[in-house]
Amino acid sequence: MDSAGGSTTDSAGSCVGGRLAALLLALVWVPGGAPACPALCTCYVSPPTVSCQANNFSSVPAGLPPGARRLFLQNNVIGALRAGTFGPSTVTLWLYSNNISSIQPGTFRHLPALEELDLGDNPHLRVLAPDTFHGLRRLQALHLYRCQLATLPSAIFRGLHSLQYLYLQENGLLYLQDDLFADLANLSHLFLHGNRVRALSEGVFRGLLSLDRLLLHANRLATIHRRAFRGLSRLTILYLFNNSLVALPGDPLAALPALQFLRLNANPWACDCRARPLWAWFRRTRVHWGAPVLV
Ligand SMILES: *[C@@H]1O[C@H](CO)[C@@H](O)[C@H](O)[C@H]1NC(C)=O
Ligand SMILES: *[C@@H]1O[C@H](CO)[C@@H](O)[C@H](O)[C@H]1NC(C)=O
Ligand SMILES: *[C@@H]1O[C@H](CO)[C@@H](O)[C@H](O)[C@H]1NC(C)=O
Ligand SMILES: *[C@@H]1O[C@H](CO)[C@@H](O)[C@H](O)[C@H]1NC(C)=O
Repeated sequence: MDSAGGSTTDSAGSCVGGRLAALLLALVWVPGGAPACPALCTCYVSPPTVSCQANNFSSVPAGLPPGARRLFLQNNVIGALRAGTFGPSTVTLWLYSNNISSIQPGTFRHLPALEELDLGDNPHLRVLAPDTFHGLRRLQALHLYRCQLATLPSAIFRGLHSLQYLYLQENGLLYLQDDLFADLANLSHLFLHGNRVRALSEGVFRGLLSLDRLLLHANRLATIHRRAFRGLSRLTILYLFNNSLVALPGDPLAALPALQFLRLNANPWACDCRARPLWAWFRRTRVHWGAPVLV
């Protein structure tokens, strides 16, 4: 008669079910003690850690202890993230290799301590709201690789002044707008390889005063503005291999005084006078060529 059983063993079933429920309640509810660990997760005291990885969770388990500093939720099938789920003590939040397709505005709003956020390998993510990461003033590493992102809102990285590592590789990014990274004065690693970017405009890397390595290989780059790399005075590694570059008019590489490793192979370079600035640049500089380099 009720929806739970419907079979002839109804009363026995509900009795066993009731005992099971009581038992589960006893396991997860510690009266007056420390906050419980969510079912099927493992919790550690120092540093306060909740580990719920690889458990086929389709949503973030309820009842995460509010004092947790590290939350490991990777390798599940979590589909959506909601505001109010994560506590203000969170420092490390791993959500990679899930099935996240939506992130409710405000999900990361009150996480002033967050230093590492890994959302990589969520192939249905595709779209991010402009304010998704706003307020994450201490964020040092943001992983957004392999999420099938085709575009990024202009304001998406606003205010991330502590960010040092930004992983955007293996998405479907088609373009990068001017000033997208303008607030990231402390960024040292920017990984953009394996996207579909065709051109780099004049202001695309503006503000990246600390950038050390810039990986742009395996895109569709055909055009690089002659001032696209201006201001990247600390860049030591630049990968441009496997693109569609025929020439580099205006010598954009001349703006990179600290460059040490450059890869340019697997581009359809023209071997006519259009290559002159490039050869002139090679004569002037003494960069190390990451093998195999075939200009
Ligand atoms: C994961 O959960 C789904 C239902 O949410 C179920 O169909 C599937 O068999 C589960 N997979 C594993 C490996 O437990
Ligand atoms: C993953 O998400 C997609 C789109 O949101 C959905 O169609 C699919 O069923 C989900 N897969 C699993 C295993 O939950
Ligand atoms: C980031 O850079 C700014 C200015 O370049 C500097 O004042 C600040 O201390 C840096 N913050 C961190 C966390 O490195
Ligand atoms: C070159 O990049 C494309 C993506 O743009 C990738 O599919 C291909 O495997 C890459 N080839 C090599 C030799 O790296």
